[in-house]
Amino acid sequence: MKNITVIGSINVDLVAVSDKRPKAGETVIGKAFHTIAGGKGANQAVASARLGANVTMLGVVGNDTYGTFSLDNLKENNINIDSVGVTNETTTGVAQIVIAENDNSIIVIPGANDKCDVNYAKQNEKKILASDLVILQLEIPLETVLFIAGLCKKNNIPVLLNPAPACVIPEKLIDDVTFITPNEHEFELIFGQDSNKDTLLKRYPNKLLITEGSNGVIFHNGSEIVRVPANKVNVVDTTGAGDTFNGAFGAAYINGKEIDEAIKYANLAAGISVTKLGAQGGMPTQQELDRWEQF
Ligand code: RIB
Repeated sequence: MKNITVIGSINVDLVAVSDKRPKAGETVIGKAFHTIAGGKGANQAVASARLGANVTMLGVVGNDTYGTFSLDNLKENNINIDSVGVTNETTTGVAQIVIAENDNSIIVIPGANDKCDVNYAKQNEKKILASDLVILQLEIPLETVLFIAGLCKKNNIPVLLNPAPACVIPEKLIDDVTFITPNEHEFELIFGQDSNKDTLLKRYPNKLLITEGSNGVIFHNGSEIVRVPANKVNVVDTTGAGDTFNGAFGAAYINGKEIDEAIKYANLAAGISVTKLGAQGGMPTQQELDRWEQF
């Protein structure tokens, strides 16, 4: 069976649901509060595993209640956590999330995710090199991401980079990965506000997949720019939609699906995920996805 290794953040999400987003200096009364498993790395690992992939998680948590909570959650989702680091030096990463006015805003406090450094990656080199696909995001130190992408490139291991949260990245990182999946905001930050989408899609055929939310995903298939539409759904919470897309795309890719088919599959999974609260709350299993496909 093929393996996916996700190297990335593991957070606990502290989610406040409110009708109104408070302005600076304002207090509003919210409707609900949830403490749930999150972190872009962990979310993408869960998305792939729910769809049947064999997933190993690499990352670091604190030696605290949130660390235990996060590890239990990964285990429950059948993810190999043997090499997840536990540090005494700092606390498990947290994300403070406000869901209001049909969108979310997130503040991430990386904590132990910053300990997912190059040293830690080197200690886990064997696991990384035994992967059929490595999935990375940008909630761990950028040097770690650069190191792993370079290592994988040298060893012909495909890498899916979800460049989130958005930051400026060196061109070498784009060259080293197999797929890069920015949303529109991340695309502008990486390639510059005035950059021409069509030109860049052409420059990176079958690699640059731009996710545009309800407008679907665009990429260049080697001959032309193609848009794979998103599914229409009742949105409850968009947190983790991108993570579901990436995890599902990874699962489809290692199963040999063509890129357009893998995007279609990942779009469906991401669409299902937003119908429930929480980054991982709505991530579908293969059976759920099959059921949705019939509609
Ligand atoms: O992509 C959603 C995730 O971003 C949340 O789960 C939160 O932890 C932040 O990392």
